[in-house]
Amino acid sequence: MADTTNLLVLESPILPVLTQRRSPRAYSSQPVPADVLKQVFAAASSAASCFGEQPWRYLVGTRATSPEAYNKILTSMGEFNQVWAKSAPVLAVSIAKLHFSHDDNPNRHALHDVGQATATLAIQAAELGLQVHQMAGFSIDKVRTAFGLPAGYEPVAVFTLGYPGDPASLPDGLRDKEIAPRVRKPLAEFMFEGEWPTPATERYDQATV
Ligand SMILES: Cc1cc2nc3c(=O)[nH]c(=O)nc-3n(C[C@H](O)[C@H](O)[C@H](O)COP(=O)(O)O)c2cc1C
Repeated sequence: MADTTNLLVLESPILPVLTQRRSPRAYSSQPVPADVLKQVFAAASSAASCFGEQPWRYLVGTRATSPEAYNKILTSMGEFNQVWAKSAPVLAVSIAKLHFSHDDNPNRHALHDVGQATATLAIQAAELGLQVHQMAGFSIDKVRTAFGLPAGYEPVAVFTLGYPGDPASLPDGLRDKEIAPRVRKPLAEFMFEGEWPTPATERYDQATV
């Protein structure tokens, strides 16, 4: 069932699933079936990548089936993230392979491509009624050491995955944030046309394009 809490409202209509994707801090205790977990991570494969390299890797820990990995990921997080992330049944770390496989040259786009893959995975999760919450607040060194990551692989972000829960379950301070209106920059602040930084909307408001 789709998560319809705190839908995003923008100036132009977008895909319904994009309005539903959000980064919750409250998760339900409902476990994530193995086939659903596979479906979510399979979606990452559909992302575009430079040279088709697919530089993304994911270390996954589930509370039910891989509690040791789950705890390694949880304890790599800052305390402020652990507080709420521990309610999610699945934790993961996205990792970038930093060199191209075909010539071993540095892949300047590796982090970009990992971000795209994780964004895609998050949208698939939302479509299935789950939600992802990505975090930069974690220790790269702790992940590297805990999992014995080889050279040439860089932890990018950690994230929670699970079915969203009741915002009322959150501690004070986080509860309000969960349902606060979701605000985005207007298009005119990031879509420029013709010259920097002329808002494209100045043209689109007036003419057919
Ligand atoms: C790379 C990245 C790092 C983030 N780091 C954190 C974090 O450490 N802790 C946290 O609570 N949220 C974190 N967030 C979540 C953002 O705050 C959230 O995506 C943003 O406020 C927009 O909200 P929405 O995803 O619900 O639309 C991060 C998101 C991204 C993409």
